[in-house]
Amino acid sequence: MLKFNFYGHACFQLDDGKYKLLFDPFLTGNPLASIKADEVEADYLLVTHAHGDHSGDGYDIVTRTGATAIGIPEITDFGGANVKTIGMNLGGTLKLPFGFVRMVPALHSSGIQGGTPCGYVVGIGGQVVYFAGDTCLFGDMKLIGERDKIDWAILPIGDHFTMGIEDAAKAVELLGAKNVIPVHYNTWEIIKQDPEEFKKLVKGANVHIVKPGESLNLNA
Ligand code: NI
Ligand code: MN
Repeated sequence: MLKFNFYGHACFQLDDGKYKLLFDPFLTGNPLASIKADEVEADYLLVTHAHGDHSGDGYDIVTRTGATAIGIPEITDFGGANVKTIGMNLGGTLKLPFGFVRMVPALHSSGIQGGTPCGYVVGIGGQVVYFAGDTCLFGDMKLIGERDKIDWAILPIGDHFTMGIEDAAKAVELLGAKNVIPVHYNTWEIIKQDPEEFKKLVKGANVHIVKPGESLNLNA
């Protein structure tokens, strides 16, 4: 079973029963965090960009867990002898014991010099999961959906810093995603959104609203 464990904001874990992939580990200072940074488990840590609400507790988590950090080198080359990192860049694909990780573009700012923001397409547990990171709507989402059949799209809907609900609904259409999980909303007043309104706007895909602390079986 492939589990999606949502920890609040844009932090989540994919767990195939053997490997745990943790994404955008912003827990300390996250008003919605449903787990503490010193409790969360990870074998791999994937970071989309260097803004604090994404890279967050990354360094502490890889240091404590021994997880391998994956990302743009300027962002995830944390340093330190005991930290394992795999630096990669846009368009690259990693073959890993659980499946694959492909780094795809995101249109956003970086949070660090040279730290281009990205999204990820991940093959794990018989599913293809696209995590957009922080981004606006862009036309090449269509290419991302043509390259890999997207079973699950995890998209920001909070507006202001990323897509809002109308553009995220259009993103679902471009991606041809079968299922969608909205993230990156309601953490603060400035990104307040009603996910039920998003659900109404999405055509041709199932929208799954997952609350922080909840889990979803992605094989169901
Ligand atoms: Ni950001
Ligand atoms: Mn963000």
